[in-house]
Amino acid sequence: MSHSERTLVLVKPDGVQRQLVGQILARLEAANLSITALELRYPEQRHVEQHYQEHQDKPFFGPLVEYLTDSPVIAAVLAGEDAIHTTRRIIGDTDPANADSETIRGELGVDSMDQADDEGRALRNLIHASADPEDAGREIPLWFPDHEPAE
Ligand code: PPS
Repeated sequence: MSHSERTLVLVKPDGVQRQLVGQILARLEAANLSITALELRYPEQRHVEQHYQEHQDKPFFGPLVEYLTDSPVIAAVLAGEDAIHTTRRIIGDTDPANADSETIRGELGVDSMDQADDEGRALRNLIHASADPEDAGREIPLWFPDHEPAE
């Protein structure tokens, strides 16, 4: 059964640099999700390491942290019916090259996992969204400590 929930979204440095913030947030708002927090941030390395803590042993962890601290990101909390699942669906597959063409990564993404792996750098895939309620419950207070807890 669907229910109202909150999710943490980051427009990553490539999305901000390519001036796609408005388009990305508009797509989420068009799915009846509401922005309840929004800020341009220059995250510290330690902060990004905490955000991606479950991936700390992956080979891409270092490049991923570098990518996220390279230039500003937009951090936002989106709220609405099935916000977590809805947002992930609209974003599309992790690898923009594999994402459905109507998703954010499929339509606006230009990078691919193969290319990133070949070049030993991070995959630039425009956007992050919490994977599940547990991640959202950890990520929202990490980015917005003063955000009101969900009812
Ligand atoms: S895994 O290994 O299945 O848990 O990884 P996955 O869920 O696909 O991705 C976890 C996050 O790491 C990002 N990612 C990468 N970043 C840089 N380089 C490479 N090669 C890479 N592979 C995965 C991926 O985008 C996920 O971050 P978010 O921000 O949630 O999209």
